[in-house]
Formats: sequence, structure tokens, C-alpha cells
Amino acid sequence: MTHNPNENDVAFGFRTVHEGEKQGLVNDVFSKVAERYDQMNDLMSGGLHRLWKDDLVTSLGPPKGDQPFEVLDVAGGTGDIAFRIARAGGAGTHVTVADISKEMVGEGRKRAEAEGLLGRCDFTVGNAEALAFPDKCFDAYTIAFGIRNVTHIDRALSEAYRVLKPGGRFMCLEFSRVDMPFLDKIYEAYSFTVIPAVGKVVTGDGQPYRYLVESIRTFPDQENFRKMIEEAGFARASYRNLSGGIVAIHSGWRI
Ligand SMILES: C[S@@+](CC[C@H](N)C(=O)[O-])C[C@H]1O[C@@H](n2cnc3c(N)ncnc32)[C@H](O)[C@@H]1O
Repeated sequence: MTHNPNENDVAFGFRTVHEGEKQGLVNDVFSKVAERYDQMNDLMSGGLHRLWKDDLVTSLGPPKGDQPFEVLDVAGGTGDIAFRIARAGGAGTHVTVADISKEMVGEGRKRAEAEGLLGRCDFTVGNAEALAFPDKCFDAYTIAFGIRNVTHIDRALSEAYRVLKPGGRFMCLEFSRVDMPFLDKIYEAYSFTVIPAVGKVVTGDGQPYRYLVESIRTFPDQENFRKMIEEAGFARASYRNLSGGIVAIHSGWRI
């Protein structure tokens, strides 16, 4: 599709689209991959995504006791982060998932039921840029492999800030910039050839996976994203690289 470029254009992978168009295109990607999403994550990352997610949840450290600990997991998809938090925390830990794709949320609910976690994890359909929750009601906000898909990252970050209680923590797991010589070349080749090819074999369509890989390259690097978190009002904004910067965990506090 061609259109006249204007200042409200945003990146959709390596293409530029009008800002109003992006979310619909992202939703098409996830409605197509929802059923095979978990299987593809294992295949594409060689299981590494499990370790990265475990690391995020260990860093969050939900309390073990009965004290209430309310977590909002945005772009929570099929529940990988929510289930880990619910299992790591005590009886007071409760996770609300908010994801814009009803197909992904549907898969998540099915999994929660199968794993006996429905009471501890609720699944809702919602947009990270306009959350349907009151101010200051969560102890923690998590988002894993989600924020690069939203159209206006700054709006998602200010919504995160709004719904967190003072003392609450923002944590984000996202693909980032590889900072190791050689690994960057291997990763580049792998991402642009193997991932879309595996996606095509498993789901019948390589296009959604091409978008996923391209969107990683257009997302801000570690330091620029850290600054955006700070600009949204968070204190002590910091990050830690995992696997040589293939992914990074960013953290910030509402004080
Ligand atoms: C790559 S998946 C990540 C799912 C899960 N967090 C995980 O780590 O396995 C990205 C998710 O972001 C969701 N998403 C995209 N745009 C969104 C938005 N504006 N608000 C909320 N969720 C969104 C998609 O529907 C999809 O489920």
C-alpha cells in the first residue's frame, strides 16, 4: 500500500503506515498466530524465552505470603508471564492480563483453566494505550514482548504510570540491541531467514514472523527506551541485558 508520508506515520516493521492503521495490522498478526503462538516461541528461541521470562519474574519477586499483590500483565497474550507470577507468589498474588487480541486472550483463558490458575489470573481484552483500570490500583505492571507492538509507546508508558500505586514497579521484557561482536551477525542472519521460514512451515504464513523480526529492529535501543521510561515519570529507570542484549529487562518505580 502506498500513501503520502506525514508526521503521524509510524513504523510497522520496516514499512511506514498511518498511525491509525498500525494497531489493526498488529492485531491481524496475532489473530493469525494465536493458536500456534506458544509452540512457535519455543521453536524460534530454542526455548530461551522461558529462561528470559523466568528471569523477569524472579527480578519482580512477588511476595510469598498472603499479603495482597496485584499485578497487571499488559499484552499478556496466552499467559506465560501471568502464570509464572501466580506460581512464584503466595496466595495474595493475583494477576490481571490485558491484551488487545481476543484470540490471544482466548488461548490464555483455555490454558489458565487447564492449569488450574483461573482464580489467580484473570484475562481481559484491552489496549495498553488506554487501560480500563482506575488510577493507582496495581502493585506491579509487567509487559513482555508487547510494548514494541503498540502504536504510541509514550502513551502506554504513561498509562502504566497512572495505574501503578506509589511504590509500584514497572517491568518490561523486550527484544533489544545485541552488543556482542559476531553474535549480532549470527542473530541478524537467523532472524531474517530462519524465523520467517519456520513461521511459514508451522503456521502456513511467513509474513507475520517477518513483521515480528522487523519490529525488533525499529524499536528503540536499551538506553533510548530507558530514557522514555524516565520521561513517563518513573524513578530509578534501569535495564539489564540478557543473552548479549538479544533481550533486555527494563525497570522503573512510581514513587
Ligand atoms: C509477542 S506477544 C507477547 C505475549 C506474552 N506477553 C508473551 O511474552 O508470551 C505480543 C502481544 O501484544 C499484544 N498487543 C499488541 N498491541 C497491543 C496493545 N496496543 N495493547 C495490548 N496488547 C497488545 C498482542 O495481541 C500479543 O498478544
